[in-house]
Amino acid sequence: MIYSGNAISVQTLSDGIAEFKFDLQGESVNKLNRATVQELKEATAAVKADASVKGLIVTSGKSTFIVGADITEFGDNFAQGEAGIEEWLGVLNSVFNGFEDLDIPKVAAINGIAFGGGFEVCLGCEYRVASTAAKVGLPEVKLGLFPGFGGTVRLPRVIGIDNALEWIATGAEKRPDVALKDGAIDAVVVPEKLNEAAIDLVKQALAGKLNWKARRQEKLVPVKLSPIEQMMAFSSAKGLILAKAGTNYPAPKLAIENLEQNVNLNRDEAVKIESKGFAKAAVTPQATALIGVFSADQVVKKMAKKWEKLSHPIKQAAVLGAGIMGGGIAYQAASKGTPIVMKDIRDEALALGMGEATKLLANQVEKGRLTPVKMGETLSRIRPTLNYGDFKEVDIVIEAVVELEKVKAAVLSEVETLVHDNTILASNTSTISITSLAKNLKRPENFVGMHFFNPVHMMPLVEVIRGEKSSDQAIATTVALAQKMGKVPVVVNDCPGFLVNRVLFPYFGAFDLLVKDGADFQQIDKVMEKFGWPMGPAYLIDVVGIDTGVHGADVMAAGFPDRMKPDYKGSIQVMYENKRLGQKNDKGFYVYVADKKGKKAKKVDPTTYELLAPVVTGEKREFDAQEIIDRMMVALCNEIVRCLEDKIVETPAEADMALIMGIGFPPFRGGAARYIDQTGVAAYVALCDKYAHLGKAYEAPQLLRDMAAANKSFYG
Ligand SMILES: NC(=O)c1ccc[n+]([C@@H]2O[C@H](COP(=O)([O-])OP(=O)(O)OC[C@H]3O[C@@H](n4cnc5c(N)ncnc54)[C@H](O)[C@@H]3O)[C@@H](O)[C@H]2O)c1
Repeated sequence: MIYSGNAISVQTLSDGIAEFKFDLQGESVNKLNRATVQELKEATAAVKADASVKGLIVTSGKSTFIVGADITEFGDNFAQGEAGIEEWLGVLNSVFNGFEDLDIPKVAAINGIAFGGGFEVCLGCEYRVASTAAKVGLPEVKLGLFPGFGGTVRLPRVIGIDNALEWIATGAEKRPDVALKDGAIDAVVVPEKLNEAAIDLVKQALAGKLNWKARRQEKLVPVKLSPIEQMMAFSSAKGLILAKAGTNYPAPKLAIENLEQNVNLNRDEAVKIESKGFAKAAVTPQATALIGVFSADQVVKKMAKKWEKLSHPIKQAAVLGAGIMGGGIAYQAASKGTPIVMKDIRDEALALGMGEATKLLANQVEKGRLTPVKMGETLSRIRPTLNYGDFKEVDIVIEAVVELEKVKAAVLSEVETLVHDNTILASNTSTISITSLAKNLKRPENFVGMHFFNPVHMMPLVEVIRGEKSSDQAIATTVALAQKMGKVPVVVNDCPGFLVNRVLFPYFGAFDLLVKDGADFQQIDKVMEKFGWPMGPAYLIDVVGIDTGVHGADVMAAGFPDRMKPDYKGSIQVMYENKRLGQKNDKGFYVYVADKKGKKAKKVDPTTYELLAPVVTGEKREFDAQEIIDRMMVALCNEIVRCLEDKIVETPAEADMALIMGIGFPPFRGGAARYIDQTGVAAYVALCDKYAHLGKAYEAPQLLRDMAAANKSFYG
């Protein structure tokens, strides 16, 4: 044994070849945490000091290679500010450079995921062999960063500027065949042959059949490309990649600029430039928010895992209703391997539900993502039926019938008599209280809400709603099913609108008030889309359905009259009264007209303005964009704070993830709690005070005043 640590061991194999193995003890994956980097330094020194080592294969003892840097350590490192980050990277890169400088051939044997820092370790080697199961890439831009452990320096020198720009600025994960084509790896082999192939490469290098020294030298000097070729590479990357990334995500731009500065330098100088640029990216609010989203996602996953331990196994599920939601739920469950009975009272509905599932699956077969055999297997997991037949075998029933309390109450109490005592009943209601629906049941402890979003196969969030009497086991089993269906479950307590809709309606309320005060709904949409929302509020309500919106607004007004019951007629109501239901009948705030390919395109309709004229009481004018943003965001964020105050949701992390996953809250802003933090709690409270005259929805919740007084924030 040449070196033995907690994360790395180096052991001689034969013929002077040693195995440099990453295997972080006590963890399921390898990551480059502080301790591992320290061991990388020590293990490198041990290899250097041992003259018997002639070559290395670099391997992993896990099913992944190295997943990347330890993101949980970023907070501390980044809190040091730009200079501190540069210093940290300086130390770290001297370790990476030291490894690269080992004067022996090194071959990375990439068995699984090698992302970010993990792939940067591979780039420190002269050669890279990947198993067919591997995935590589430098995905740092997804966290608002770019590679900081020499990746922006080594990759362009290995695969050329064009390819490197695409890899780094898009952060794409690459399959081994693609990485091979781009030159980022040298061979792809079946998993069983990986180490053998890596050893063989070291032997060829040692036998002089491969010029491994030239391979290394390439990484130490400027990129070989003429100034004109460079200019073309960079200008086309800027055009293509930056147009796609948009202005809200600065990391790809910073990455491209960084490469532009470092490609003509020697490695050591280039790495310094990289560190400087990385530090700049690391302190942007976008990086803070995106890293925050990563951590929040971990929190949500951990919570779900905790629940899972309490859950009953689900061998068979059922869904009542084969409509838009029921059909989607059946498709999603079946796709992820859960057999599901789909019951409706109408044959046509069942045919439509099965038709939709078939269409979605056929689409995947067409794209090569699914084999026809697998499609058949998936479809056979959905059993459409008009009667309750074998409901005794069902472990969970998801009710997705029409949104009428009477109908739901009747359907739920009927099905309760047909299932076994432990079967969980879950309602996909959007607006009816879970506690109130439970009143009709004999076993209310087995009943919860399971709120999917439309379209089910696309929207990742599932709110699992705890009614007054729901048992932990019912919650746990529903959480487990949501996870099995590939969704992100967030457990919330019962209240009108649950979490997501409760927050969304004050936002629509703020929209209505802006229109009443004279703002153009198109300007509001444009401003909010530029702010980062996938759709502005007028477009969003068209997509949701104006009738659904009006119904929801009525429920919310009854639940929270102090801040959600307007004393004026709003623009959404006007659309409703004029039978403009949004996309579903091609007319809402906008009109939807089929283009040549039959795809519906959004168009402006002058009639909308005529219809709205009577409810606009303010002077029609162009609003200051910031005023629009502030009024819209304050209404939304305040309600999230009230949900935290009322313990509807347990943590800011879950609240933020729910908004990102459920309604497309801009991820680079990290969610509502993060938005308040980044505005500054005191500054945010001042903003609430500025708009408090508009109504209760804009008044700062007490929790925020207390936080401001104590100089506290949600994420610390
Ligand atoms: N559409 C959305 O965007 C959305 C989003 C989240 C939640 N939801 C909720 O999901 C539920 C279903 O909504 P949808 O949009 O799918 O409605 P839908 O009208 O498309 O489908 C309802 C289906 O239920 C069937 N049905 C009625 N009574 C039944 C019974 N007794 N037994 C079995 N089936 C019966 C109907 O035949 C119909 O096929 C509602 O509670 C709704 O609030 C809808």
